[in-house]
Amino acid sequence: MREIDVQEAFLEAGYQISPEAADLIVSHSLPEDLVCYVLEHVDESIFVIEAEHIDVLSFESECGTTLKDGSGKSPEQLTEASPQITVSSQGISEEKTSDPVASSSTITPGTTSVMNSPASPRSKKYSSSFPVGYGSGGGIDRSTGAGTNGNGAGNNINIMSDITDMSTCVGEYMEFVQYFRNRYSKLSDLIRGRITARPIESLNKNRKHGGGLRRSGGGDYSEVSIIGMVSEVRSTANGHKMLQLEDPTGSFLVLVHQAEKDLFEEASKIILDEVIGVTGSLTNDGSLIVAKKIILPDLPNISHRREGTWGKAVFTSDVHIGSSTFLEEEWCNFLDFLNGKSDNEQMRELSKDIRFLVIAGDLVDGIGIFPGQEHELDILDIYDQYAKAAEYFSQVPEHIQIIISPGNHDAVRQAEPQPRFPERITSLFEDRVIFVGNPALVDLDGVQVLMYHGRSIDDLVASVPGVSYQEPEKAMIEMLKRRHLSPIYGSRVSIAPEKQDHFVIDPVPDILHCGHVHTIGIGRYKNVLAINSGTWQSQTEFQKRVNVMPTPAQVPLVDLSTLKTSLLHF
Ligand SMILES: [Fe+2]
Repeated sequence: MREIDVQEAFLEAGYQISPEAADLIVSHSLPEDLVCYVLEHVDESIFVIEAEHIDVLSFESECGTTLKDGSGKSPEQLTEASPQITVSSQGISEEKTSDPVASSSTITPGTTSVMNSPASPRSKKYSSSFPVGYGSGGGIDRSTGAGTNGNGAGNNINIMSDITDMSTCVGEYMEFVQYFRNRYSKLSDLIRGRITARPIESLNKNRKHGGGLRRSGGGDYSEVSIIGMVSEVRSTANGHKMLQLEDPTGSFLVLVHQAEKDLFEEASKIILDEVIGVTGSLTNDGSLIVAKKIILPDLPNISHRREGTWGKAVFTSDVHIGSSTFLEEEWCNFLDFLNGKSDNEQMRELSKDIRFLVIAGDLVDGIGIFPGQEHELDILDIYDQYAKAAEYFSQVPEHIQIIISPGNHDAVRQAEPQPRFPERITSLFEDRVIFVGNPALVDLDGVQVLMYHGRSIDDLVASVPGVSYQEPEKAMIEMLKRRHLSPIYGSRVSIAPEKQDHFVIDPVPDILHCGHVHTIGIGRYKNVLAINSGTWQSQTEFQKRVNVMPTPAQVPLVDLSTLKTSLLHF
C-alpha cells in the first residue's frame, strides 16, 4: 500500500491524514487492515488523523501482527525514526479522484440500473465511507444563524438550502436507491410540464404484445415520450448514438440518428445519470425509440428576473491560504480595496456599497490533499492555516457580511454535499462570519446565490464537448441546463446518498457561483449569472505539469440591483 493509497482511503472516509500518520501505516506489515482498524476506532470529532491517533499496539494485540521492520517500536518511536516521507514520482494529480467507485474496475457507472436493480453495485463502495459526524449535527453551533445578520447593518442573509446538520446517510444500499429516485422525481417533474411522458413499463408491455405501431390497450405508439435517467451512452457500429434511459418502472433504448444533425449534436452532450425527456417513434418491433426531440430540465424562459437589491457583492474562492503559491501581496491589496484604501480612485469608488463577500470553497490549501503537498506549504498545520484565514477576514470591514462554504481542500468530509466547517474551525473566526455547506443556496437580501465549489466541472470538462477549464462558465451553463450541479455519479465527485438530492438546481437562483478550476469565467444563461471566481494561488507544480494556466487575483464584483459584473484585478 502506497502513501497515496492511504491518503485516498482516509479522504474517502472523510478524514485527512498527516504525512507522519500515513508513513506509519505504510510502514506496517498489514497497512490495509490497519487503515480499517483506524477508521473503525477513530473519534468522529477528529478530522485530521495524526500518528497519535493510530494505536498500533492495540491493533496488533487484536490481530497478532508486528511492524514490517520487526523493530517492535511504538508508533511515536517509529515516527521519530522514520521522518522521511515517500513522495510518489508518478505525478499524481492534485485533483486525482478519491472516489472509490471511480477507481473500481468492477463498476461501470451508468450501465447498471440504480432505480430498479436490487443488486446494483453502485452502492457497495460506500458502505463505510461516510462518517456522518461532520454533517449530522452533533451539537455544532452556527456562529451566525440562518437568516440573521451578524453585523446588524441590514445585510439580510437567509440560508435557503444547506446540508449542514441535515445529513442522514451512512452509505447503505437503500439510501442510494432513495437518492437516485429523489433525483429522478425532482428532475422529471421539471420536464413533465413540457411533455406527456408514459412510464417505460408501458412500452415494454407493448413490446411483449407485438410492439411497434400497433395499438395495445388503446395507446397510440406512433409517437411516444418518456423521461428517464441516462444509464448508458454509446455509439453504434453505424455511427448513431444509442442511449439507455431508466425510470422507476424499467429501462428502454433510444436511438439518435446521425443524419439528424442538430439532434445528434445535442445527444453528443448527453452525460451519464442526467435526467432527460425524449420524444420519438417506436420501431416496428417495439424494441427502441428513434428520437425526434430531446428535452432537458433546463431553466424556464422567463423574460424578467427578480428585482435585485441595493449595493454590491464580491465573489471569490480558492484562496488556498497556507500554500507557498498563495499570493499574499495581491490578497492584501484586495483587503485594502475592501477597506476603501486602494491607491486608485476608481477602485476606491467601486469599493463603496459592498455588502457581501462570498467565498465558494478552498479557503485553505489543507494538508494531505495530494502526495508531496507538504513541500508546497508555507503553513504545515491545518488549524494554523485556518487561524491565518481568520486573521485575514478580521480585516474585512464590519459592514461587509462574509459567507464561506467549503471545497475539496477544506477540512470537512470529501463526499458532497459537504457540511460547513466544524466548530473547531468556525470558532477561530469572528462571530459575524457565516459558514454554510457545499452546495448552499443563500439569499442576499433578495438576490439568491447558489454557491457550489465546482468539483463536478472536472467531470463536465471530461464528458461534454466544447467545455474546457479555460471557460468554466460553459460548464456552469451545462449545470443550469441539466438543473443539476453534479450529474455524473462515480467519477470525480463522491456523492453522499442523502435523502434529498441537494445538487438539483431548484429554485432557479439569480447567481450561480463556483470555483475549483482556478480560472475566471463569467457568463449568463436565461437571466442567471454564472460566475467562476478564480483563485489566489499562482500556478502550482501540478498545474505546470498539466499545462493549466490559472487566472489568479481577479475578483468579480456584482451590482446587486442590476447583476452587472465588473472584474477587478489585484
Ligand atoms: Fe482550489
